[in-house]
Amino acid sequence: MSKPRLEGKVAIVTGGASGIGEAAARLFVNNGAFVVIADIQDELGHRVVDSIDPAKCCYRHCDVRDEKQVQEMVDHAIEKYGSLDIMFSNAGIVGSLTGILKLDLGDLDNTMAINVRGVAATVKHAARAMVARQIRGSIICTASVAACIGGSGPHAYTISKHALVGLVRSSASELGKHGIRVNCISPFGVATPLTCQLGNLDPSEVEANCCAMSNLKGTVLKPQNVAEAALFLASDESSFISGHNLVVDGGYSVVSHAFSSFQ
Ligand SMILES: NC(=O)c1ccc[n+]([C@@H]2O[C@H](COP(=O)([O-])OP(=O)(O)OC[C@H]3O[C@@H](n4cnc5c(N)ncnc54)[C@H](O)[C@@H]3O)[C@@H](O)[C@H]2O)c1
Repeated sequence: MSKPRLEGKVAIVTGGASGIGEAAARLFVNNGAFVVIADIQDELGHRVVDSIDPAKCCYRHCDVRDEKQVQEMVDHAIEKYGSLDIMFSNAGIVGSLTGILKLDLGDLDNTMAINVRGVAATVKHAARAMVARQIRGSIICTASVAACIGGSGPHAYTISKHALVGLVRSSASELGKHGIRVNCISPFGVATPLTCQLGNLDPSEVEANCCAMSNLKGTVLKPQNVAEAALFLASDESSFISGHNLVVDGGYSVVSHAFSSFQ
């Protein structure tokens, strides 16, 4: 039998109580890692831990808007499991769907506070812990196709996810000298509470909409597919990949939908 891809590694997954984060936490544990699931949905987070394996993962309340909570979450992972090899900074919100003429700047501030400032705090404290312990770690953030093109999500969301790619490239440029890799993943639409809440739709309706918009027909993007991309970036299989935006969108962001519809 081949060695588990994350054998003995310690990971934090923010936004790990739901959707993509939950799928990643499960997959990381199944591949030999110890995982701290961090989120603000405490009850759900504890239930996810119970459904995975309480001997290999635990729940930690952490609102990524609060730097102190982020630092304490990193300290907790190190105290409990003895290291921090992987930070999957995945927590995010989609914000509200309003036109630019009616842009709610309060909503923009909150979206930036979670999707950019919150992620920056996780990168900062994970990197500090890794540098101090000479750990050649992997930091992975969840961006979006909305980081690649305009018009695929609300304005505040698109702004925040573009900024996130800048955060990844900028921090990768400094952390390379410590052997720390920083990458992000940009998924196409996945039916999770985030996308259901955006259009007030149920998961099957979200999937139907995603299928209609998708470039790659005959398949539906699931949280598991995104988790597999995170597993690749977390593992030694991607040991020379840093500063990269791994787009998981079936080609959506690089094809012309207008022209292909004629063919
Ligand atoms: N679902 C999609 O179609 C899609 C596509 C591209 C990118 N993404 C990104 O994937 C990531 C995960 O989203 P998801 O689709 O799994 O949605 P989700 O709503 O299922 O999960 C997001 C999690 O983040 C947590 N969270 C929100 N604010 C937080 C905060 N301040 N501190 C800590 N945790 C917080 C939520 O409680 C939730 O558990 C997000 O960054 C999202 O932008 C999702």
